[in-house]
Amino acid sequence: MKLLVVGGAGYIGSHTVRQLRAAGHDVVVLDNLSSGHPEALPPEVTLVKADLLDAEAVKAALNAHQPDAVIHFAALIEVGESMRAPGRYYRNNVLGSLNLLQAIVETRKIPLVFSSTAAVYGTTDAVPIPETATKQPESVYGETKWMTEQMIHAFGTAHGLPYTILRYFNVCGAAPGGTIGEAHANKTHLIELACLTALGQREKMMIFGDDYPTPDGTCIRDYVHVQDLADAHVLAVEALHGGGQVATTYNVGLGHGFSVREVLDAVDAVVGTPLTRELAPRRAGDPPRLVADANLIVKELGFSPKFTDLKEIVATAWEWHRTHPHGFDQ
Ligand code: UFG
Repeated sequence: MKLLVVGGAGYIGSHTVRQLRAAGHDVVVLDNLSSGHPEALPPEVTLVKADLLDAEAVKAALNAHQPDAVIHFAALIEVGESMRAPGRYYRNNVLGSLNLLQAIVETRKIPLVFSSTAAVYGTTDAVPIPETATKQPESVYGETKWMTEQMIHAFGTAHGLPYTILRYFNVCGAAPGGTIGEAHANKTHLIELACLTALGQREKMMIFGDDYPTPDGTCIRDYVHVQDLADAHVLAVEALHGGGQVATTYNVGLGHGFSVREVLDAVDAVVGTPLTRELAPRRAGDPPRLVADANLIVKELGFSPKFTDLKEIVATAWEWHRTHPHGFDQ
């Protein structure tokens, strides 16, 4: 298959590009490089530098490269920033996705796999969370993903466009071998911050609240390894291409969670020295427990995550950060 991977130079996109290549597919990446890294792409992959807000450039890329399917990762992803700059998020994430959908139906009507997020659920009592749980996004970021999901559904219904939406839980880790990994300009993710603290780039790890209704009082998240998530995209796009997909929307997680303290304990064990920890107030918008009900993707797409051990997951992140302490800017 030939895939157009939109936002393919980013963290999850670049891991997916590698897994697609390993599965024998041809890949063209379209990315505006606002946060992506061309260095993360294999040399044989064609990179089209274009922005989804440039509708003509998107159409031109589809016409020029004639892909069989599109995987769409391109989005702004920071929850806090989305509350301060909602216009940027609605424009980039919703309008950008609308341009892509419009371009697809006007050119090739090919299948689409879309990156969504557990943030569409907001705070929910469901544990674990099934795909059918109520959608009440609590951030503009989550809202833009939920709006895009609904646009995709409408385009799918109106134009017979096959699609699969993947709702990620907490994505983490790095490609085994430490060749590529997480390198966001603004770092907020727990495992990345802990690794950078272990490297001495930060003084200590803050624990945002230990009075949550969880066994050790800290928040619980479902940490899915980026390599497993990349495999989920390969499964999804291959199923769509074969006309075999049943559901349209799948959670992607392990189906069990780890607390902030458990994650920091795992980092201590992998690194070999304990990080300095400090208790801080709760971070606004953090639900106590977000764990996926991931049975549907296991049953229907045969998703089978390889990274289920927290220390193994952390070890891949540590290998990347240890060998690339400044990310791709060496
Ligand atoms: N945390 C700390 N200290 C830190 C950083 C994080 O205690 O220095 C805690 C957070 O409060 C939270 C947990 O660690 O309880 C995980 O936080 P992350 O920032 O790593 O991840 P989030 O769960 O906030 O968010 C992630 C993605 C979002 C997505 C969400 C969906 O980053 O894009 O999962 O569940 F929307």
